[in-house]
Amino acid sequence: MSSDPYGDRGNRDRSIANPDGMGEIDGTRPAGTARPGAGGAFLEGHAMTGGYGRGADILHDCTIAVERGEIAVIVGPNGAGKSTAMKAVFGMLDIRQGAVLLDGEDITALSPQARVRKGMGFVPQTNNIFTSMTVEENLEMGAFIRRDDFRQTMEQVYDLFPILKEKRRQPAGELSGGQRQQVAVGRALMTKPKVLMLDEPTAGVSPIVMDELFDRIIEVARTGIPILMVEQNARQALEIADRGYVLVQGRNAYTDTGAALLANPEVRRSFLGG
Ligand SMILES: Nc1ncnc2c1ncn2[C@@H]1O[C@H](COP(=O)(O)OP(=O)(O)O)[C@@H](O)[C@H]1O
Ligand SMILES: [Mg+2]
Repeated sequence: MSSDPYGDRGNRDRSIANPDGMGEIDGTRPAGTARPGAGGAFLEGHAMTGGYGRGADILHDCTIAVERGEIAVIVGPNGAGKSTAMKAVFGMLDIRQGAVLLDGEDITALSPQARVRKGMGFVPQTNNIFTSMTVEENLEMGAFIRRDDFRQTMEQVYDLFPILKEKRRQPAGELSGGQRQQVAVGRALMTKPKVLMLDEPTAGVSPIVMDELFDRIIEVARTGIPILMVEQNARQALEIADRGYVLVQGRNAYTDTGAALLANPEVRRSFLGG
């Protein structure tokens, strides 16, 4: 991996966890002090089977999960069911079989809103901001479940994404694609989530902006917020992934560390362009 330009960007260096940073945002311990092996994954959609309404099953015995202090990445072809799996974990569709577990608790029956109250943050692939509202109003909307003073959290979001502070009075719809994605991630952070789910956070942005967004995502992970994310930039995403899932037709095709998937000749040939 020495020739790898992203080699220094993984979140494996636990010593960098910043106790004064956004770790505050969720009140949990920073990544470096995650309890090893305490009850398995922090968030897991386990052996999920199901689809939309009465339609055919889209997911088949599909498992995606993220451990404390880690970044997990889901890749796979268009239509593989990546977004569907994320929606299932967030409670936006009913699964016929399987379960969703959060910190060891079975939350399969909970509504999305109840899952947010339990500490889940989700940035969907589409329609993830209110375009006619200002940047700051979007962040305020993100804090909808909070009764306490959220100004400190907003400052932390502005520290993470300084451009949002500059543009806080502008309608979010006027921002560039990369900036809109920052609004969407910032909005999710306003609930002080214990885990963050991102569906294609770098969709439609330039390679440079993608790199910047990945750096910010790593920064969030280092504050102790595990990240479960879908990415179409598979190679770059697996570079920063502690764990990767390749989904094909609603099934787990490969599951391994990001590094092992990148090194796997079959995965490379079929999903990473050789
Ligand atoms: N709201 C929906 N209702 C019915 N079918 C859907 C819906 N959203 C997605 N699908 C179907 O589910 C399958 C998986 O889609 P999706 O999860 O969006 O894939 P991916 O995110 O991997 O590109 C596709 O066949 C798609 O047509
Ligand atoms: Mg999708």
